[in-house]
Amino acid sequence: MGKDVIVACDFSSAEAVYSFLDKFTGRKPFVKIGMELFYAEGPDIVRRIKARGHRIFLDLKLHDIPNTVKKAMAVLSGLDVDICNLHAAGATAMMEAALEGLTRPDGTRPLLIAVTQLTSTDQQSMERDLLIREPLDEVVMHYAATAKRAGLDGVVCSPLEAEKVHRRCGADFLTVTPGIRFADGDRGDQRRVMTPADAKAAGSDYIVVGRPVTAAADPVAAYERCVAEFVDR
Ligand code: C5P
Repeated sequence: MGKDVIVACDFSSAEAVYSFLDKFTGRKPFVKIGMELFYAEGPDIVRRIKARGHRIFLDLKLHDIPNTVKKAMAVLSGLDVDICNLHAAGATAMMEAALEGLTRPDGTRPLLIAVTQLTSTDQQSMERDLLIREPLDEVVMHYAATAKRAGLDGVVCSPLEAEKVHRRCGADFLTVTPGIRFADGDRGDQRRVMTPADAKAAGSDYIVVGRPVTAAADPVAAYERCVAEFVDR
């Protein structure tokens, strides 16, 4: 798979997401469906968006015992999503079980990527609440390497970490990177951000872009600007 722009469809209803996607009459963006939309509308929203011709990253971040995750992943695989994810904190047995559950009888499966440490977790909360005392960036790299060893395809990370992840886990281990803003755009609540062009230079494989596209006055133009900077240039 080549580089692509994934639009985070952080909407809370089918009507809202369809009225957004209806604007895209040309190129159909790769979309990310997260917990909000999935829990509001159920699995049917995935089938319907897929039927409209979009590729889908289903961002549900599974984390449970291996058997439960394996069975849940088999259901997601049946929804024909392109990428799904889990928490690397579920450990190797859970990640291996997830891959087993995802693999269809014909041997194909969606890509599976791992969340390492959430960006909402900082050094202090990791030490205090999780009793993990190593430096945060080493924990992130260790989780990425563990995911790679378990057979996963990549990780969600900051574009600032993409190069380091590739050095540790190999050039073909995918880095899917949120925290993207245009040089002249509003940062919102994201603190460590990169432009699409800089994320490309940093080696990101996929950028995940939400509000810079969904809240733009002209979402299609904003999406095409991301593609021009990240894919075409
Ligand atoms: O609107 P914005 O571009 O900030 O959206 C980024 C998307 O990526 C959101 O769906 C957000 O939940 C997700 N994300 C993130 N940072 C992470 C993991 C996921 O921004 N570390």
